[in-house]
This record gives sequence, structure tokens and C-alpha cells, in this order.
Amino acid sequence: MLLRSPFRFYIRKNWRPFALGLFCLLVTNTLDCLLPLLLKEVIDALSSKKNFSLIYQPLAIYLGLVCFVAIFRFGWRWAWSRYHQSVAEDLRNRVFDKYTSLGLSFFNRYPVGQLMSLITNDINTFRMGVGPAVLLFFDATFYCGIIIPAMIYLSPTWTWKTLVALPLLPFFVAKLENLIQARYNLRQEKFSELSGIAQEIVSGVRIIKGYALETEHTKNFNNVSREFESASNKASYAQAALEPVMQFVVSTGVVILFFVGSLDVVKGTATIGTFVAFLRYVQKLSWPMSEIGFGMSMLLEARASFARVKNVLVEPSDIPDEGTVDPIEFQSLEVRSLTFSYSEQREPALKNISLVINRGEKIGFFGPIGSGKTSLVNLFCRLYESKHGSLLINGHPIQNIKQSSLHRIFCLVPQNVFLFGDTIAYNFALGLESPPETDEIEIYSKRVRLHDEILATKNGYETLLGEKGVNLSGGQKQRLTIARGLIRNAPVLILDDVLSAVDAETEKAIIDTLEGSVLSDKKQTVIVVSHRITSLVNCDRIYVFDNGSIQAVGNHSELLTASGFYRSIYQMQMTEAIQ
Ligand SMILES: Nc1ncnc2c1ncn2[C@@H]1O[C@H](COP(=O)(O)OP(=O)(O)OP(=O)(O)O)[C@@H](O)[C@H]1O
Ligand SMILES: [Mg+2]
Repeated sequence: MLLRSPFRFYIRKNWRPFALGLFCLLVTNTLDCLLPLLLKEVIDALSSKKNFSLIYQPLAIYLGLVCFVAIFRFGWRWAWSRYHQSVAEDLRNRVFDKYTSLGLSFFNRYPVGQLMSLITNDINTFRMGVGPAVLLFFDATFYCGIIIPAMIYLSPTWTWKTLVALPLLPFFVAKLENLIQARYNLRQEKFSELSGIAQEIVSGVRIIKGYALETEHTKNFNNVSREFESASNKASYAQAALEPVMQFVVSTGVVILFFVGSLDVVKGTATIGTFVAFLRYVQKLSWPMSEIGFGMSMLLEARASFARVKNVLVEPSDIPDEGTVDPIEFQSLEVRSLTFSYSEQREPALKNISLVINRGEKIGFFGPIGSGKTSLVNLFCRLYESKHGSLLINGHPIQNIKQSSLHRIFCLVPQNVFLFGDTIAYNFALGLESPPETDEIEIYSKRVRLHDEILATKNGYETLLGEKGVNLSGGQKQRLTIARGLIRNAPVLILDDVLSAVDAETEKAIIDTLEGSVLSDKKQTVIVVSHRITSLVNCDRIYVFDNGSIQAVGNHSELLTASGFYRSIYQMQMTEAIQ
């Protein structure tokens, strides 16, 4: 229902504030439209000069009505704001849930800027359509529904003569609709392109400065910015055509009234009061006419935005969380004949991989750049899904395991460091069910040799990190993410190439910690991905990757004999270390 008819869906869902808003609006408009009739009474009483006191009563009623109009006007604004803000909240949450439920392949396809603009700009535009635009239509209908009968009551002849140009409107609006829709689409596309570029430039500012790419990027940004400006102007021109046409229709009515009405007043067939009241009604009509024009353009814009939101909402979940198995303890991880490509067009990143990892083992993944190590550990955590081959946990296909269980079993310390812009302590506690004690944080912080450096900062563990941990050095960030992985004490800890970035002493301290946890009662399983063989020498088994396949398996000494590739890299690394 939401996807087919979003307006109806949200009106039904939030019918209470919607109905209250409509009721207040109806009362406001009715009272407002009574005011010219009272004005007529006052003017006619004054022009007849019979009795000045005759104007007291209508004036008092006028004042009373104005107060009620103010109260009900506040009422509809309050109710309506609640209505469309909750629509935006609901849709925002749906889109955000979708973002979090989709696998990484979705994020590889959509630029971050586009996703950001969708959840902010497009949802806001939709809110304006489902809220204020719908309101404008109701307001216009109510107004016309009250004003036109009031005009007929005053003079049926004047009414049809002043409204003669009205039927032109639907024809004109229908003509403009497609043009406006196409131009809004283009503007939204340019906006998300622009925010994507801005986001990339801001995130990559260090590289841009380091490589002196400022001029090139500024030129690129300026070009897209100009395209956005031009698309916005085109959309505004199309929209701008609507309102003047509405106004023109009303102004024609005013001119006709002056011709027809004033003649009747001179002839004595109508009073001045009737003429003034009628004129007020015709002028009041200009408001609903403008509303229809304005509401129409908001509605078209909202439709274009919802179409973009819908594209994401209908995105099939490539990694559905439909599993029911919730293993209490991790026992084994088995990969059977697994082949994986990031997309159909690409060469597989992993080819026919088979391996078994049992509880308590310490496993090493070794291999050159781009040989598939990260791809495989990402598949263990179900960040991607492979269509060929299988991945079994405790003998169950990974698809049958609840995702929450997978997150409990695996702790992946990724190759790319990411820290949240909160305190150091917050980053330590990430993903833990209960916040760790300070002592515990310090223990792990010492193991990665970070404790003294944290104490040297002004607020210690309460130090606020800038965005993505900008106020820590690269090595400090790396060690903090390792400590964050260690403290989770997950059944399977995966360190994806994080040890090569720390110095030899810290590496040894971390390896000692890992060995301690593997040997402990908990029998933690550890997978260490590394280019540096010193990080892997004590592993029970090392898998040597090459171009997406496993080229050799064995412990360090077995591989030294069995794999020429492994031996030559080891010798090279040893020579480098001695030098
Ligand atoms: N998100 C992605 N989209 C498309 N292709 C990718 C993606 N990530 C990796 N690849 C490709 O998959 C292959 C394996 O990459 P992977 O990151 O698994 O290698 P790796 O062994 O971890 O390398 P490194 O040691 O440099 O971290 C490479 O050819 C890479 O270009
Ligand atoms: Mg990698």
C-alpha cells in the first residue's frame, strides 16, 4: 500500500491529527468567510444613515469571529504539523532500516551522497507534498466551497460572470504537469550528484591537499553546482508559470465585477454593501487559486522524490535475516567449494575455496594484495552473500543462522579503521551488551600499548574524538580498533590485516594476548589476516591465498618446506627486518 499509494497510506496511518487538522481548517474557513457578510451589514447600516447603533452588534460579532478564527487557525497548524512530521519520521526510519538491512553490495552501487540526499532532502520534499500540499488542496476546496455559495447568495449573475475564466485552469495545469515533473526529477538528480561530490571532497580533503588537487576538484564541483543551478532555475520557471495564471483568472473576475457590479449599484439594483462584500469574496478567491498552483508544484515535486525513495525501498534484500538457528557455542566454520564475485561482470574474487576452522584454532590467512582474504572474511560475517558453494557454521548453512547470532559469534576488526566521533571509552564499549568497567578497558588498552598515550590526553578515556577519530594518529586509531575487537571476547575474532600497521613490540603483545585467549577455557578462535609472516608463525594453520584461490595450507614450518612462494616471501621479510 505504501509503495502503491503513499499519500493514502499515510493519511490512513495518521488519520487522527489529519482529521483534527481538517476539522479546524473547515471551521477557520467558514468563520473567515462569514466576515464579509458582516462587513456588508456594517456598510449598509452606515450608508443608510438610519441608526449608527446598528453597527455595534455586527462589529462585536466580527471581533468574536476573528478571535475564533485565530484559535482554530492555531489548531489546524498544530495538528497538521504533527501529522506531516510523523509521516517524515516514519518514512525516514523505513529508509534507514532498509539501509541497515542491505548488504555491502548495495552500498557499492549507490554513492554515499545520493543516499544522504535521499534520507534528508527527498524525504523532506515528500513530507511537504503529503502535508502542506494536501492541506493547500483541502484549504482551497473548502474556501471555494464556501466562497462560491456565498457569492451566489449575494448575486448569482455576478457570480457566473466573474468566474467565467475558471474552466481554463484544469486545462492549463494538465499541460504543465509533465514538464514540471521532468524538471523536478532532473533537479533532484543534480542535487544528489552535487552532495555526493561535496561529501567525497570533504572526506578526502587530506588526499586532495596532499596531491594539490584543489583546483581540479573545485572546477569539477563548480561545474556540477552550475548544472544544479540551471536545473533548479528550469524547475522554478515551470513552477512560476502556475501561480500567475491562477492570479490572472482572479484578476479577470475583479475587472468584470467592476463593470457589471458598479452598473447595478448605480442603477440601484444592488447596495454598496453587497458590492464590497462581493469584491472581498472575489479577492479572497485569489488565495485558493494560488494555493492550487503552489500545492500542485509541491505535489509534483513530492511525487518525484517518492519515486527515488521507492527505488531504495523496493531494493531486494540480498542478505535476508530469515535464519532461526541460534547456536549457543561456536564449534566449527566450514567453507565448501565457494566461488564469489562482486558482480556478474567481474572476475571472481574467490574461486573454489574449501576449508574448515574448528573452535579454539588460531588460523592465519596470508597472500598478496587483492588475493581475496578480506572478501572471504567478509563472507564469514555475511556482509556479502555468495551464490556458489556453501558456508556452514556448526554444520548449519550460514543463511539459517540468525544474524544477531552471527554478530555475537564473529568479531571482525576490519582493515579500514573506523571510529565514531564520540569518547574513546564509547569506542571501546561499542557492541558490548553492558558497558565495560574502567579496569577492563585499561587492561585491553595496555595490551595494545595505548594506555599511556590515552592518559597523556587532557580527558583520558573521556577524550572526545573528532569525526572518524580525526584527533588520533593513524597508529593510535589502529590500536584502538584492535583493543575494541579484543575486549568483545567474541567466540571468533578476525583481525583483518591490522597487525602490520603496529610496531613489532605491540604486535608481540597482541599475539601473546591472542594466544592466551585461544588457550583459555573460552577457547577463542582467532583468524589473523596478515602480509607479515611474523604475525602468523604460531598459527595452527596458515592458508596461502593467490589470485582468489588457496594455493597452500599448513603451519609455518610445513609451508616453509612445501610452498616456494611462502618461503621466498618469508626470506625477503627476514632480510628486510635484519636490515
Ligand atoms: N567492494 C568491491 N567491489 C568490487 N570488487 C572488489 C571489492 N572489494 C574487493 N574487490 C576485488 O576483489 C579482489 C579481492 O580483494 P580483497 O579485498 O579480498 O583482497 P585482499 O586479499 O584482502 O587484499 P589486501 O591484502 O590488499 O587487503 C580484488 O581483485 C579486488 O579488486
Ligand atoms: Mg584485505
